[in-house]
Amino acid sequence: MPHDPRTIAVASGKGGVGKTWFAITLAHALTRLGRRVLLFDGDLGLANIDVQLGLMPAHDIGGVLEGRVSLADAVMRHPGGGFDILAGRSGSGALAALDPASLETVLAMPRNGAAGYDDVLLDLGAGVERPVRRMAAAADLLLVLATEEPTSLTDAYAVLKLHRADRPLGDSRIVVNFAPTQAAGERTYVALRRACSTFLRFEPGLAGVVRREDKVRDAVRRQTLLLTRHPGCTAAEDVEEVASRLVA
Ligand SMILES: Nc1ncnc2c1ncn2[C@@H]1O[C@H](COP(=O)(O)OP(=O)(O)O)[C@@H](O)[C@H]1O
Ligand SMILES: [Mg+2]
Repeated sequence: MPHDPRTIAVASGKGGVGKTWFAITLAHALTRLGRRVLLFDGDLGLANIDVQLGLMPAHDIGGVLEGRVSLADAVMRHPGGGFDILAGRSGSGALAALDPASLETVLAMPRNGAAGYDDVLLDLGAGVERPVRRMAAAADLLLVLATEEPTSLTDAYAVLKLHRADRPLGDSRIVVNFAPTQAAGERTYVALRRACSTFLRFEPGLAGVVRREDKVRDAVRRQTLLLTRHPGCTAAEDVEEVASRLVA
């Protein structure tokens, strides 16, 4: 029986904190746990999942929206990773200007159980503009990436605050990335949770801590998947831990 997939959006407010890399690696980790995964490039301004993976998809989300190609034909299977990718369209501005109805149409497509996915991962763009908020609000689970840097923390807090306003009962959890150690990452989480508890009266859970790891840059530079290129390194273990908790 087909069932509706769970949609998981990855946001951060601030750019450059590892959203795209984390979304890709989480998609891979979930696939390795036996889940059928679609990775959806929801960065409407600067789509770049395909670039980070060195892929040249024949179609992208724009073609689906314009009705030239079906979702099933527009997705591309990652050759080694085993998960599907729906590429975004970078720089065209066409998607950034999406009207709300088209945006809902795009979001509804992979949710359809007939598509056969267990998890749909949405890599969101930076910022807290309306399309980002809408996509975050449409997801079943929002993962908010933060690092220990003050600017990242304040941006992550802003994302959590707006999501709370958009989805008062929504499920939002924190991922600390670039953590020097697991313990340091947990302290970053506690600081952010405290701010949410004091000012927003809710306590987001911890989805996990991902440590800073030089091998991540190597994998990204070579346009390869971390779990394939450097299995067992700290960040690989950490993302696998996040994935297994999400599946448990
Ligand atoms: N845990 C980590 N350790 C080391 N480098 C990382 C880690 N996470 C991300 N990076 C690096 O940060 C860069 C920016 O990540 P990216 O996913 O493009 O960020 P965003 O999508 O948030 O703008 C990546 O190219 C990668 O090299
Ligand atoms: Mg990105």
